[in-house]
Amino acid sequence: MKTIAVLTSGGDAPGMNAAIRAVVRAGIAMGMNVKGVRRGYAGLIEGDIIDLDARSVSDIIHRGGTMLYTARCPEFKHEEGLQKAIATCKEQGIEGIVVIGGDGSFRGARDLSLRGVPCVGVPGTIDNDISSTEYTIGYDTAMNTAMEMMDKLRDTSQSHERCSVVEVMGRRAGYLALQTGIACGATSILVPEVEFDLDKDVIKKIREIRSTGKKHFVVVVAEGVGGVEEIADRIEEATGIESRATILGHVQRGGNPTVRDRVMASQLGYHAVELLSNGIGNRVVTVQNSKIGDMDIYEALAMVKVFDMDEYNMATAISI
Ligand code: ADP
Ligand code: F6P
Repeated sequence: MKTIAVLTSGGDAPGMNAAIRAVVRAGIAMGMNVKGVRRGYAGLIEGDIIDLDARSVSDIIHRGGTMLYTARCPEFKHEEGLQKAIATCKEQGIEGIVVIGGDGSFRGARDLSLRGVPCVGVPGTIDNDISSTEYTIGYDTAMNTAMEMMDKLRDTSQSHERCSVVEVMGRRAGYLALQTGIACGATSILVPEVEFDLDKDVIKKIREIRSTGKKHFVVVVAEGVGGVEEIADRIEEATGIESRATILGHVQRGGNPTVRDRVMASQLGYHAVELLSNGIGNRVVTVQNSKIGDMDIYEALAMVKVFDMDEYNMATAISI
């Protein structure tokens, strides 16, 4: 391949810039031209494309967000949108694309690959909800951001002897909630993957722990469970403990990427370009058993991620 492109799609994640930088510089090192598509698949449809050189990606490795912007583009899910995107690739001489995003973006990459534009997916989402990989760019930074904010909530919750009910992002997945809940010593962690009974699993537990002298509590609720206001009200009604609900929200998506995210993004981006430079597309880059590899997109999309119940049960056991 002589010319490849890179785009970011779906929710942004800290470390996407480091991945763009790695793709651009790896492409140049392997003798290719690299173009940047702005606003994900929307930019591919509209032809919003820029030339990138080694200096275009200077000074971004440490920044959150994505210099290429990102978007959700419903039009791309339809044949007409896809054909417009393919026409742009022909006009611009784009022979392969690195797609940085989540499962949805990988579906788009599969559809493009199927129509003759080889794509390689690089996992990027704070949710870490992609079945084919143990790790997604942005997850570590988001976990650390959520943890820092929960530590701050803990200070005020402790001072007022309150219960903090905190919603953590994750779309339909509870990985971010589980990890940050463990890191912050949450009394209960509610995730969509595990059924729970608010009275038995949360309220009764708070009462029991209170009787041992504990005075303040943190309940972490994954976005996929939701209802933090109602949960806080029910805890307050049933226990008499003043409770406050907090939705951490989009702040979890921003900030300077951690070491882990910068290094992973660099490795994953580099591997994606290696594949394209060898004429290989329709793949996603993966991390399995802590090793970087790749896999067919169809195979990757058919996989099911298993929630770690041992870890969840451990968290429940030590939160007393
Ligand atoms: P993520 O990549 O983070 O999972 P989305 O699910 O929002 O984010 O997907 C990002 C974009 O990928 C969508 O806006 C759309 O353009 C494209 N996409 C999502 N699902 C599909 C699909 N089934 N077929 C083709 N393209 C898709
Ligand atoms: O996928 C990343 C994510 O931040 C999810 O955790 C959340 O459900 C969603 O994106 C929010 O999307 P938006 O930015 O469109 O509100």
